[in-house]
Amino acid sequence: MKMKFLHYFLVLSFASTILSDPCPQVCICDNIKTFVTCANKNLTEIPPAIPQYTQKLTLQKNELKIIPSGVFLATPYLTHLSLQNCSIETIEEGAFRNLARLRYLNLGSNRISFIQQESFDGLSSLEQLILEKNRIEEIKLGAFSQLGSLNLLNLEDNFLVYLPDMVFQGLMQLKLMRLSKNMISIVSIEAFAGLPNLKRLSLDHNEVQYLPNEALSRLSGLTRLELGWNPMTFILEEAIQMASLKQILLNNNALQDVSFKAFEKSKQLSFIDMSNNQIRSIQPLSGMDQLKRLNLTGNTIICDCFLKPFKQWADFFRIKVDLHCFGPSHFLGDHLDSLRAIDLKCGNFPDDVYKIPVATEKPDTENACPQSCDCKTDVKHAICENKSLQKIPKGFHVDTTLIDLRRNFFHSIPKGAFLDMKNVASLHLQNCEISDIEPEALMGMKNLVYLYLSHNKISSLKPEVFQGAPKIGYVFLDHNRFTNIPKETLRLLPNLFSLHMQHNSIDSLSNNNMAGAQKLHWLYLTGNKINYIAPTAFRDMKDLEKLHLDDNLLSEVPTQALKGINKLIELRLSKNPIKNIGNGAFVPVSQSMQHLYLNDMRLQQISSGAFLGLGKKVKSLFLENNNLQNLPNMKNFNGLEVINLANNPFNCNCQLLHLHKWINSLNLKVGAKCVTPKSLRGHDVRNAKFISCPGWESNKNRNKRKIPAISSSKKKRPRKS
Ligand SMILES: *[C@@H]1O[C@H](CO)[C@@H](O)[C@H](O)[C@H]1NC(C)=O
Ligand SMILES: *[C@@H]1O[C@H](CO)[C@@H](O)[C@H](O)[C@H]1NC(C)=O
Ligand SMILES: *[C@@H]1O[C@H](CO)[C@@H](O)[C@H](O)[C@H]1NC(C)=O
Ligand SMILES: *[C@@H]1O[C@H](CO)[C@@H](O)[C@H](O)[C@H]1NC(C)=O
Repeated sequence: MKMKFLHYFLVLSFASTILSDPCPQVCICDNIKTFVTCANKNLTEIPPAIPQYTQKLTLQKNELKIIPSGVFLATPYLTHLSLQNCSIETIEEGAFRNLARLRYLNLGSNRISFIQQESFDGLSSLEQLILEKNRIEEIKLGAFSQLGSLNLLNLEDNFLVYLPDMVFQGLMQLKLMRLSKNMISIVSIEAFAGLPNLKRLSLDHNEVQYLPNEALSRLSGLTRLELGWNPMTFILEEAIQMASLKQILLNNNALQDVSFKAFEKSKQLSFIDMSNNQIRSIQPLSGMDQLKRLNLTGNTIICDCFLKPFKQWADFFRIKVDLHCFGPSHFLGDHLDSLRAIDLKCGNFPDDVYKIPVATEKPDTENACPQSCDCKTDVKHAICENKSLQKIPKGFHVDTTLIDLRRNFFHSIPKGAFLDMKNVASLHLQNCEISDIEPEALMGMKNLVYLYLSHNKISSLKPEVFQGAPKIGYVFLDHNRFTNIPKETLRLLPNLFSLHMQHNSIDSLSNNNMAGAQKLHWLYLTGNKINYIAPTAFRDMKDLEKLHLDDNLLSEVPTQALKGINKLIELRLSKNPIKNIGNGAFVPVSQSMQHLYLNDMRLQQISSGAFLGLGKKVKSLFLENNNLQNLPNMKNFNGLEVINLANNPFNCNCQLLHLHKWINSLNLKVGAKCVTPKSLRGHDVRNAKFISCPGWESNKNRNKRKIPAISSSKKKRPRKS
C-alpha cells in the first residue's frame, strides 16, 4: 500500500515537472509525449530553454550554422534529434556530450565539410547517424570510435575522395553503411577494418577505378555490396574474396573484361549484376555453386560459338541469365533464353561488325608503353589519366584495347593522333579541355566502339572527325558546348548505337539533322534548351528505342517528330514546360511505348484522347508533380508495373469516379490524393467514397474499416447496419 502510494506520488511529481517546464516561444511542445518541434523558424541558435525531459527534438530548417560544445547538456533524455537543413558548417568537439540516450541523429542536408575527432563523443547509444548531403571531405581518425551501438551510418552524397586506414574503427555493431554519391577513388587497405557486423555496403556512384579487393576482403560478414556507377574497366582473378557475400552489383561501370575466376573466392554469391557495361564475351564463371541470377543486359555480347560454353554452363546449373544478344545480326536483341546452345555458331556474317578484334601482327616491341602511362599488359589497357599531358602520347602497344587519357589538357586532337591503334575498343578523353577535333583525328581506329568525350568544350564537329573509325557504337558528348546538332555530323557513323548529348546548350533539332545514324537505338538529350523539334528531326532512325528529352524547354509533345520512330520503348519528357497534352499525342509510338515519363511538367490537362493507342504495353507511367485535377480514361493501361500520380491536385468529384475505380483495380502503389473538395483534402483517391455519384457501388467487403463516408457534394455519416 505504502509502496503503491509512493509510486503514485513519484509519477505525479515527474509528470508535474514535465508540465511545469515552459515551452520556448518559437517551439511547439507536446509535454505528454515529450516531443518538441522548433522547425522552420530561421533560428540562429538552439533555444536555451528546451524542457529538460524532452525525448524528441526537431530543429530542422533553421539557420544554426554551428553546433556549439555542450549545447545539449540540459536535455539528457533526448532519444531523437533532427537537425537537417540547418546550414550547419561546424560541429564543435563535445557538441553532443551528455546525450547518452540518443538513438537517432539526423544531420543531413547541411554544409558540414569536416568531422572532427570528438564531434560525436558521448553518443554511446546512438543507432542511426545520418550525414547525407553535406560537404564532408575528411573524417578524422577516431571520429566514430565512441559509437559502439551504431547500426546505420549514412554518408551518402558528400565529397569524400579517400578512405584512410581504420576510419570506421569502433563501429562494432554497424550493419549498414551508405557511401554512395561521393567521389571516392582511393580505398586504403585497412579502411574497412573493425566492422565485424557490416552486412550491406553501398559504394555506388563514386570514382572507384580498381576494385579495392584487399580492403573489401576485411568485410567477412558482408552480404550485399553495391558498386554500380563507377568507372571500373576490368576485374581480375580472385578479385573478390568475401566469404559471406550473396549479392554484388557492378552495373553501369565500364567493364570490358571480367576474369572467369573473378568471383571464385566468394562462394555464397547468388546474384551478380553486371548490366550496362561493355562486356563483349564471357566465359563460364568458375566456383559459383550458389549462383542463381546473373544480369548482363546492356552489354555488347555476341551470341556466337564463343558464347556456347557459357550458355551450356548457365543451362546446366540453372542460372537465370539476363542477356540480349548484340550480334550476330540475326540474333540482335534476342534474349539468350530464347536460344539453344546448339544455335550459337560462328560463321561469316558479312554485316557483323562487332567481332572481337584479333591481333594478327607481332607487337613491335615487347612492352611498348608511353612514358607517362601505366600499361597493364594482361588486359591490354593503357592508363594515362591525370598526367598533365598536352599532347596525345605516342608509342602504345599495338594490341592495346583501352586507352584512358582522362583529365589531361589536350585542347585539340590533331589528325592521325591514333593512327596505329587498330585494336582499341574504348578511348577515354573526358575532362581534357578539348575544344577542337581535326578531321581524321580517329583515322586508323578500325575497332573503336566506345568514344568518351564528355566534359570538354566542344561546340561543333565535322563529320570527317569520324573518318576511318566505322565501328563506333557509343559516343559520349555530354557536358560540352553544342548549341545544335550540325547536319551531317553523324553521317560517317553507320553503326552508332547510343549517342549522349545531354547537358549541352542545344536549342532546337532541325530537319533531318541526324541523318546517317540509322542504327541509333538510344539518344540522350536531357538538360539542353530544346524548344523546337522539326518534324523530320528523327527521320531514318527506325531503330530508336530510348529518347530522353527531359529537362528542356518544349511546350508541347513533339508528335510530328515521333512519326517513323515506331520502335520507341522509352520516352522522357519530364521537366519540360508542357501544360496540355492534346488528343493523339503519342499515336506514332503507341504500339511500342513501354516507359513514359511525364512528371514535373506543371501539366494542367491531359485531353480525353491524349493516350489514344497506348495500352497494355505500357509498363511504367510517371505523372507525379504536375497540376492535374483529373485524368482521361485509363482502362487500356492494364499491363502497368509502376505508376506515380503523387503531388497532383486531384479534384475528387464525380468525374474522378472512373479513376478511383481504375486505381482500385490495380495492385499498385499510385500516390494519388484528393486536394479538392476541401472535405476530402488529403484522402487517397483509392479510398475516397463517391457515394452520391451515379455508378458508385459501395463495396462493403473490400473496405470494412470505419472511414467516414464523404462525397464531393455532401457529407454523410455511414449508416450503421
Ligand atoms: C526566413 O528568412 C527568410 C529570409 O531571410 C525569409 O524570406 C523567410 O520568410 C523567413 N522565414 C520565417 C519562417 O521566418
Ligand atoms: C533540405 O535540403 C535539401 C537540399 O539540400 C532539399 O532537397 C530538401 O527538400 C530539404 N528538406 C526540407 C525538409 O526542407
Ligand atoms: C538487370 O539490369 C537491368 C538494367 O540495369 C535492369 O533493368 C533489370 O531490372 C535487371 N534485372 C534484374 C533481375 O536485376
Ligand atoms: C591529379 O594529379 C594531381 C597531382 O599530380 C593531384 O593533386 C590531383 O588530386 C589529381 N586529380 C585527380 C582527380 O585524380
